[in-house]
Amino acid sequence: MSIRIMGTGSALPEKTVSNLELTKLVDTSDEWIRERTGIAQRHISTGETLVTLAAEACGRALENAGRDASQVELLLVATCSPERGIPCAACQVQRVLGAENAAAFDLNAACSGFLFALHTACAYVEAGIYQNALVAGGEVLSKIVDWTDRGTCILFGDGAGAVFVEKSGTGGILGFVQHSDGTRGDVLKCDSRALKNPYVELPMEAEFVQMDGREVFSFAVRQVPACIREVLTKTGVRAEEVDLFVLHQANRRILETIAKRLAVDMERFPMNLDRVGNMSSASIPVLLDELNRSGRLERGSRIVLAGFGAGLTYGACLVEW
Ligand code: ACO
Repeated sequence: MSIRIMGTGSALPEKTVSNLELTKLVDTSDEWIRERTGIAQRHISTGETLVTLAAEACGRALENAGRDASQVELLLVATCSPERGIPCAACQVQRVLGAENAAAFDLNAACSGFLFALHTACAYVEAGIYQNALVAGGEVLSKIVDWTDRGTCILFGDGAGAVFVEKSGTGGILGFVQHSDGTRGDVLKCDSRALKNPYVELPMEAEFVQMDGREVFSFAVRQVPACIREVLTKTGVRAEEVDLFVLHQANRRILETIAKRLAVDMERFPMNLDRVGNMSSASIPVLLDELNRSGRLERGSRIVLAGFGAGLTYGACLVEW
């Protein structure tokens, strides 16, 4: 018994920001950004919130699956840029959707968040607790990015994606692996609130995203191929039998190195990061929705999903579409 992805949806802010526009903010160039990252533009919120984007993506996923919000039993939102500390984003999305019968909560595993949330939904369904789940990944990273830091502000974008999953006899998610390495959390971090109470007041360490880009790069190109191999071994499938590798869209050079290490042609690594940048937990579901709606996913296709990011966290799953 497994879960099958029955519908996908996504939503992006209206405003796009080109690399050229960023040259007005920081000392950079279109050429440098394209060459080092593959990114040409990103969507940036001028009013859209994590909740409006995630709710729109969820609504589209439900519509795509032919299901009604009242049928949703579990609603998970993966994000590291929530609007509020409380209530959680999932409860806010539940309210917008009218998914009154769902249990709703958030999950934060940064850029692996959507994948970890999908695995969580899978575990709940396999345990027989719920029959279905709506799983979203969404970010408004533009509010936690330092727009004076050229090393990070060029990378990120805002957006949300979602999938509706249901209990299935065959196919669906065939296996997954997930890992975390908290000892290396400092290579990519952002504080949310300083300790401040009547007894103590401490300064915030990192109010905006801080990243050691080279460390993140070497972590990703080492651990992601390893965990993809792990999930393939677990499910008894060879890399050449996989139709598509849908990875977190961090950076084109990272994806090219991973493809090379797996000896897989880049054509099987679809990308949209040139148009949307790195959207952390929204990356995988937004790309999945694009592939689904453009007809690139056929019933029976084998797809590897893999995420990696702050934590450090990383994981992969094999899906039979
Ligand atoms: N424009 C122009 N020059 C820049 C920019 C910029 N936007 N940013 C940095 N530079 C300069 C640096 O100051 C440095 O100059 P110096 O040699 O005079 O000191 C030079 O370019 C090289 O800097 P590096 O940081 O060494 O550049 P690198 O080749 O490592 O590329 C990058 C930086 C693109 C961030 C790379 O390390 C990378 O891809 N890392 C992965 C990080 C990533 O993808 N993070 C996403 C978030 S995490 C996640 O999603 C998993």
